[in-house]
Amino acid sequence: MTMKLSSSHMDNIPSTPGKFKMEKSPYIYRFRHYSSLAKLTFWSFVFLGLIVVFFFKTPSTSPPNSMPSDLSRRSLKTSSWGGPAWEKRVRSSARIRSQNGLSVLVTGAAGFVGTHVSAALKRRGDGVLGLDNFNNYYDPTLKRARQALLERSGIYIVEGDINDIALLKKLFEVIPFTHVMHLAAQAGVRYAMENPNSYVHSNIAGLVNVLEVCKNANPQPAIVWASSSSVYGLNSKVPFSEKDRTDQPASLYAATKKAGEEIAHTYNHIYGLSLTGLRFFTVYGPWGRPDMAYFFFTRDILKGKSIPIFEASNHGTVARDFTYIDDIVKGCLGALDTAEKSTGSGGKKKGPAQLRVFNLGNTSPVPVSDLVSILEKLLKVKAKRMVMKLPRNGDVQFTHANISFAQREFGYKPTTDLQTGLKKFVRWYVSYYGSGKKSSH
Ligand SMILES: NC(=O)c1ccc[n+]([C@@H]2O[C@H](COP(=O)([O-])OP(=O)(O)OC[C@H]3O[C@@H](n4cnc5c(N)ncnc54)[C@H](O)[C@@H]3O)[C@@H](O)[C@H]2O)c1
Ligand SMILES: *[C@@H]1O[C@H](CO)[C@@H](O)[C@H](O)[C@H]1NC(C)=O
Repeated sequence: MTMKLSSSHMDNIPSTPGKFKMEKSPYIYRFRHYSSLAKLTFWSFVFLGLIVVFFFKTPSTSPPNSMPSDLSRRSLKTSSWGGPAWEKRVRSSARIRSQNGLSVLVTGAAGFVGTHVSAALKRRGDGVLGLDNFNNYYDPTLKRARQALLERSGIYIVEGDINDIALLKKLFEVIPFTHVMHLAAQAGVRYAMENPNSYVHSNIAGLVNVLEVCKNANPQPAIVWASSSSVYGLNSKVPFSEKDRTDQPASLYAATKKAGEEIAHTYNHIYGLSLTGLRFFTVYGPWGRPDMAYFFFTRDILKGKSIPIFEASNHGTVARDFTYIDDIVKGCLGALDTAEKSTGSGGKKKGPAQLRVFNLGNTSPVPVSDLVSILEKLLKVKAKRMVMKLPRNGDVQFTHANISFAQREFGYKPTTDLQTGLKKFVRWYVSYYGSGKKSSH
């Protein structure tokens, strides 16, 4: 839908820790003035050096250029981990404080949904450990602020990539997690045209890594993970029900989420992992994602910048089933609480295990133009609307969730309408960023 990123957002490239830079050494040129013996010695060293480099280079199994260098293995370790002090921090964060409490590894904990889910779990006494690579797909200072928020309630977010197998293994050695809430992913529909590999890296390779480690763990945890309403793609039957077709994705993002659902099926089938996929429908709220329309509309309306409002090619309205974050959190907790145990152990299946997929939406699609009207009222600023055709590059015209399955299984029932939820979002936005309006004195 209206996920057009401003150019400033486009400048941010995710997952880019430490690029390797070669510098020319001035010493090479000085050798010219020495004798041929010195030359021979020099070139011998160069040759030896090359051999050493050749042997120490870790063999890469991926074909060249299949991944940009910023996603190479070297970059996975974004900070150091391990050691007694670190383990103590991990243990303290994951300590269960209520009877029958869960012990949950939350990936993507510095993200929008991850932060809210982590806080909610902690509040009710579950043990929570976060994992996030703090990539710069959007402003990482917002992720750091969420991290600080969680830290205040005793939640530690380990800084690392879900593709770092050694780190994941270590976490399971320290904590026998009962559940994994897997939310780490490359989100966003449009950005997939710019950096397709980041989607493969996090949503496919990363997911497989998480499942590999979970399947090898003993006991195996139950896994709840975020799929997306985007898997419905070009499906035009509304409301979207879990059994509807999902084989026509309209974006690479959607395709990687759909692939995730199939991968989940495999791990459930072969290894007895208990797996629950949640198809979120346009989640919004305080501490939200700056690349989403409600968020940058708010920013741009306050700045007096014009905002793009898409209409479908048939002049139809573009609408979304906006779902408030607190309702999504309730759905996540409901899914965790009703997840059955995995049946395998140490990589071996012992019996059939639970495999589920749920829609988590609001069941009430709202045209994007109405979203803007609500924001105008809340911000008390008139928006500069720029009506445009919806480009065919990933966003679908309409989403509408049928949530009766989640309602039946764990009593999921969203209670926040868009007006109420946006009011809470705007209150947070203004307290966090300021209103941006010139003060009158
Ligand atoms: N917000 C929505 O409207 C929405 C809708 C449908 C699905 N989802 C899915 O829900 C989940 C959470 O979404 P969100 O809105 O909180 O997004 P988010 O981008 O705020 O959170 C994702 C977090 O994962 C981290 N991450 C990404 N790749 C990683 C990697 N390889 N290793 C470690 N950490 C990594 C990011 O740094 C980020 O903090 C995602 O899987 C997303 O695809 C969200
Ligand atoms: C919603 O989904 C349920 C299955 O979970 C189905 O029985 C029902 O008919 C669907 N409702 C609509 C309006 O499609």
